[in-house]
Amino acid sequence: MSSIKALLWLAAAALTAAQDDTSQMCSVKMERVTVNNCLTNAKVPQASVGSDSYKFEINPYNTRVPYTPAAVAMPTTAKHVQDAVKCATQSSVRVSAKSGGHSYASFGLGGENGHLIVDFKNMHNVTVNPTTFVATIQPGSRIGNVAQALVGIGGLSLHGGYGYMSRLHGLTLENLVSADVVTAAGNIVTASATQNPDLFWALRGAGSCFGIVVSFQFKTFAAPLNNIFSYNLPASAVNPTAKSVNAVQNFANTQQPPELNMRVLCNSYQNQLIGVYYGLAADFKKAINPLLTELAITGGSTRNTSWIDVLSTYAYGSLTVPIDHSVHDAFFSKSMMTPLLPQAAVEAWSDYLVNTARKVTRNWYILMDLHGGAGSAVTSVANNATAYAHHDALLKFELFDRDNSGTYPSTGFSFLNGWVNATMSNMDPDDMGMYINYADTSLTVDQAHHYYWLSNYAKLTQLKTVWDPKGMFNYPQGVVGS
Ligand SMILES: *[C@@H]1O[C@H](CO)[C@@H](O)[C@H](O)[C@H]1NC(C)=O
Ligand SMILES: *[C@@H]1O[C@H](CO)[C@@H](O)[C@H](O)[C@H]1NC(C)=O
Ligand SMILES: *[C@@H]1O[C@H](CO)[C@@H](O)[C@H](O)[C@H]1NC(C)=O
Ligand SMILES: *[C@@H]1O[C@H](CO)[C@@H](O)[C@H](O)[C@H]1NC(C)=O
Repeated sequence: MSSIKALLWLAAAALTAAQDDTSQMCSVKMERVTVNNCLTNAKVPQASVGSDSYKFEINPYNTRVPYTPAAVAMPTTAKHVQDAVKCATQSSVRVSAKSGGHSYASFGLGGENGHLIVDFKNMHNVTVNPTTFVATIQPGSRIGNVAQALVGIGGLSLHGGYGYMSRLHGLTLENLVSADVVTAAGNIVTASATQNPDLFWALRGAGSCFGIVVSFQFKTFAAPLNNIFSYNLPASAVNPTAKSVNAVQNFANTQQPPELNMRVLCNSYQNQLIGVYYGLAADFKKAINPLLTELAITGGSTRNTSWIDVLSTYAYGSLTVPIDHSVHDAFFSKSMMTPLLPQAAVEAWSDYLVNTARKVTRNWYILMDLHGGAGSAVTSVANNATAYAHHDALLKFELFDRDNSGTYPSTGFSFLNGWVNATMSNMDPDDMGMYINYADTSLTVDQAHHYYWLSNYAKLTQLKTVWDPKGMFNYPQGVVGS
């Protein structure tokens, strides 16, 4: 039964894709009138179609993947979000939440035409309980502003989904204490370890498929001492590149302490090892020296600084961004979540870097994060403890290719796809996962389900049937009910 439904869903998706623009626009218009009226009657604020605010909100971060929503709700209260979900149900349109608006596949705009968008731009409060230091954060908050608010309020810190603090304190989602969620039925429920624990499990790794979070409660940590560093790695030939990547992954696997957080950055002209050590400068030297000795690295740059400075250094810009801040880009991105790579895969990856990628003149980069390994707080959690299925991955790669012209060429996709293929064909493909935060539009729906959620997908499918039986929160590549 479940597989028949899955097939029907796939067939429906294929039909939608086959429709021409005119018929899609026509059905979007009809849905739009119904949803608009419903939102107006319920007094839910909207960015009305054609207004400057509407044009601004639907202009995607990744201009390669633009979509036309049925309507854009701009709630200021949780009640508005509930009413918006009920309007979507009545009008039979799917709902998508948009907070930062940075989904690589424009999932915040639905990832396809015709969704009701719940835009959280006007819900971005951050407060900290002075006794428990638990931060309550609304979904429209931008990470930079959250960091500044916390530092301003309590000298505390918070961090990204995976970020430079993850080997020490785990993923952001591990630090989620509870969330208030608007469900498909339009109710508000709390999800935590003790309340609706199955929903809490699903939220942490596949949240957007299960409801709309209107408030997050996060654990916070005291801001640490910070040593920031960068070292150049060999970049111009295959063998030295492969040798250094191998040394770095082996070091992460067996010796890298949790206070040491780093990544290899490769672009058209250099390979670098960059990161942060949380602790005293002397302890940093002790931790990194074995790797520097093995790689015969001398020089490099290190400095100790404040936590907030680390964040703005690696954010490559100011943390205080206006909520209306708008940056656009035209790009294609992929990811790989892998265990220790076999020698042949490291060689194939390095060969592609030196002999293929460096001939591509677009603006591309690769980040190889040392996600797991010795002492990593991420790896210490079981793969099935939350919906995030990659706890045990040693390496997390982001592959990113942008065209500065503002249009990504149709011939561009084979570049990064070929890089992943070259790596994967030299390892056990069952060891490969992918990260939905680097949503990859070139994956089929089945591939996305498999690579994003691996062995957690079956349970997600069951929970989807419980929490969103009509598929109100469905979107391309999202979890589908059984
Ligand atoms: C945000 O916080 C301010 C000050 O505490 C409060 O007045 C306002 O109602 C809050 N807004 C929301 C949407 O919770
Ligand atoms: C910061 O760096 C300076 C200069 O290298 C060093 O003397 C100092 O001990 C460092 N401070 C900490 C807290 O690691
Ligand atoms: C994870 O898997 C283990 C071993 O199969 C099982 O005992 C445990 O209950 C699972 N945990 C969850 C949260 O499903
Ligand atoms: C990657 O591998 C798949 C499956 O083998 C193949 O269909 C695809 O054409 C390959 N893509 C590139 C760009 O090499």
